[in-house]
Amino acid sequence: MSITELGRTAPSSGTEPAVLAEGLVKAFGDHRAVDGIDLEIRPGEIFGVLGPNGAGKTTMLRMLATLLAIDAGRAEIFGVDVAGRPHVIRQLIGVTGQYASVDEQLTARENLRLFARLQRIPAPSARRIAADLLGRFGLEEAADKPIAHFSGGMRRRLDLAASLITRPPLIFLDEPTTGLDPRTRGQMWDTIRGLITDGCTVLLTTQYLDEADQLADRIAVIDHGRKVAEGTPDELKTMVGASTLQLMLAEPGEVPAAVEAVRRGLGSEPVLSPEKGRLNVALDQADMAADVLIALRTAGISISSVSVAKPSLDEVFLALTGHETETEETR
Ligand SMILES: Nc1ncnc2c1ncn2[C@@H]1O[C@H](COP(=O)(O)OP(=O)(O)OP(=O)(O)O)[C@@H](O)[C@H]1O
Ligand SMILES: [Mg+2]
Repeated sequence: MSITELGRTAPSSGTEPAVLAEGLVKAFGDHRAVDGIDLEIRPGEIFGVLGPNGAGKTTMLRMLATLLAIDAGRAEIFGVDVAGRPHVIRQLIGVTGQYASVDEQLTARENLRLFARLQRIPAPSARRIAADLLGRFGLEEAADKPIAHFSGGMRRRLDLAASLITRPPLIFLDEPTTGLDPRTRGQMWDTIRGLITDGCTVLLTTQYLDEADQLADRIAVIDHGRKVAEGTPDELKTMVGASTLQLMLAEPGEVPAAVEAVRRGLGSEPVLSPEKGRLNVALDQADMAADVLIALRTAGISISSVSVAKPSLDEVFLALTGHETETEETR
């Protein structure tokens, strides 16, 4: 039996949003980790929450997953009130990370069967579901090895598999690929896309613009517990240009002259970096870099280094908030 055959049932007609949040707040002491966030996630989409360390991503997910009390505002999942009916909510969502305490001595197959049995699924079904999930997640070969020998990527996949046992219509993935190598990240992306084909809705958090770009239909960018932008990946990228020209001037004092030259030459506004002498210019097309360089040379401004890069999360942030992404440590 495949997951598809079993089907996924949301309690509603399917016209309600998968997630609807209004003014969500979570405060730890006098620090508002989540400071009034609104979200509307449509059934069947992959919705990405993008933000740097400490932005409030995990805190927001934990509130939606009933693992943390909501201090202010409200949330509904498929029309069910999160604070009012937590037991129903828990049947509607799969949360990865929730099963972090898998038994190291048991094999992957035994772990999945155990979880299924703990969900009161009868043994024959539990066996079938475990086999099905192991196949889908590329864990067949390793299925009968104790998970103590599993790599980080295999553990992540097993964790996701475990969260799908009850076939929840909504899956929360908290930074599903942080720390994975590029190949394993790619596999995880395919797995996540597969969830959608299967009829799920996915809410995922990430620190990586490329990941949100690859996976998400829509993205909310959050910073200091607030939403600073929302849109499709393309909409967000056009806010910062399709690519970015990163310039380091030989003479940091020439920054104002360089800004003026770029304005005149390209009609766009460079973004100044806090680093002295560095500025970034958003480009709609990578080959516009030449126009900028010509404009600078005409103005007699010399450059010590230059590169063209895809916009990074840092640039999206700098463009949207006027400050760079900062981590807990640098704050
Ligand atoms: N249980 C807690 N008690 C006190 N402060 C907390 C608690 N959980 C989170 N915080 C604080 O709330 C803020 C948001 O944390 P959160 O874990 O939600 O960020 P995040 O966006 O998930 O970051 P990361 O990318 O590092 O996972 C941080 O300043 C964090 O220190
Ligand atoms: Mg987090």
